[in-house]
Amino acid sequence: MDVFQIEGPVRLSGQVTVNGSKNASLPIMAAAILAGGPSSFVGVPNLSDVRVFGELLGHLGCRVQRTPEGHIAIDSTVVDNPVGEYEIVRKMRASVCILGPLLARCGRAEVSMPGGCAIGDRPINLHLRGLRELGAEIHLKNGYVIAETPAGGLKGASIFLGGSFGSTVLGTANVMMAATLAKGRTVIESAACEPEIADLAHCLNEMGARIGGIGSPRLVIEGVSRLQPVEYRVIPDRIEAGTFMVAAAITAGELDLVNCRLDDMMAVVDKLRDIGITVEATDRGCTVAGRERLKPTDVTTQPYPGFPTDLQAQLMALLALADGNSVVIEKIFPDRFMHVAELNRMAADLRKEGPAVIVAGVKKLVAAPVMASDLRASAALVLAAMAAEGTTTVNRVYHIDRGYERIEERLNPLGAKIYRKDAPAP
Ligand code: EPZ
Repeated sequence: MDVFQIEGPVRLSGQVTVNGSKNASLPIMAAAILAGGPSSFVGVPNLSDVRVFGELLGHLGCRVQRTPEGHIAIDSTVVDNPVGEYEIVRKMRASVCILGPLLARCGRAEVSMPGGCAIGDRPINLHLRGLRELGAEIHLKNGYVIAETPAGGLKGASIFLGGSFGSTVLGTANVMMAATLAKGRTVIESAACEPEIADLAHCLNEMGARIGGIGSPRLVIEGVSRLQPVEYRVIPDRIEAGTFMVAAAITAGELDLVNCRLDDMMAVVDKLRDIGITVEATDRGCTVAGRERLKPTDVTTQPYPGFPTDLQAQLMALLALADGNSVVIEKIFPDRFMHVAELNRMAADLRKEGPAVIVAGVKKLVAAPVMASDLRASAALVLAAMAAEGTTTVNRVYHIDRGYERIEERLNPLGAKIYRKDAPAP
């Protein structure tokens, strides 16, 4: 198991290109199931989650490979084993978004029910409710969701997909994908508006689907009888971009981000500006300039276009160094605070109160051995370590490899000192 040794403090400067979006790539790879032939996806990052998703599609019968140009080619001419095994789904919860496409394509799907994870319970009741409204018969057996289409196939319906925590990203993906091949019109109310869902919808439309209201909470889908393969480029990763923005801010550095859609990140840009960070649009992305003294602020995570939960941990690392008290409220995953205790080990002053954290700014962070718990929490630890005095060891960096491609190779040319080492055997 690899660890990072990170020397700090450093000041980052230079240019970095943002990769394609992980959370757009995974459902788009699932959509390839619907296309019934060879599709090709451009800009899909080379991450462990993407490789696991490729393996999952391979088990279903698809042929998946990364081409020499770096594209992901998925040939779904054959999908003859519509089963998402526990062994893969337990590694990656996003596997659940094969359910809708398999049901539409094969008339049957068996997908292991995802369990909880480091960020909370993460139920899939809304996914199942939406698919049932399309006529699917669904039951649970030995930890698996068994879904079948009725005689005559799926039928369009009006579906409300809101839950206690707002809309659902992958739930919207699942129901939207299934509805593309349903008979008649489907309306999804309280659909997720995240740019990754809009990207999936654009990709499906390129395949021949008829989806309207893209990017809004009301999606209208006119069912079609078949979809075709496509070549499609995924959008840039707004969460990776936001992580780089915080990297510039926390090191009082200056970064030029290329391949970044600032329009998808207004809530993030707004908060960074509140803190005193300069963010300016450029032709290809933006520049971000940090400064020594940071202002505290309050932030609440919300569904898009609100501040994303996937940047909450990274922003908290930054606020730990502000001149005063900030409050961070987590409204999507109220238990997503595994980074709090680890940041406190680095001399931050964070106090968790239910779904909120009171952040009392400190003058400096200090290196310590810390444990990565999930993808974004690990990113926060890497950011904090670049600002902290001394050498921080971040254990379990496989979490960060799930969502950031060789992050040390991206940050070191900008001035970071991040060294990947083999962890000593336990
Ligand atoms: C997606 O997860 C992302 N994953 C997550 O990113 C992200 O944190 C999350 O959306 C929120 O933005 C991918 O895109 C692969 P949800 P998803 O269904 O779709 C509740 C990362 O770090 N809910 O939108 O699984 C749920 O408990 C990852 O890259 C139900 O109650 O999240 C939560 O409170 C982690 N019932 C809220 O809705 C359901 O059936 C939003 O979850 C589904 C969800």
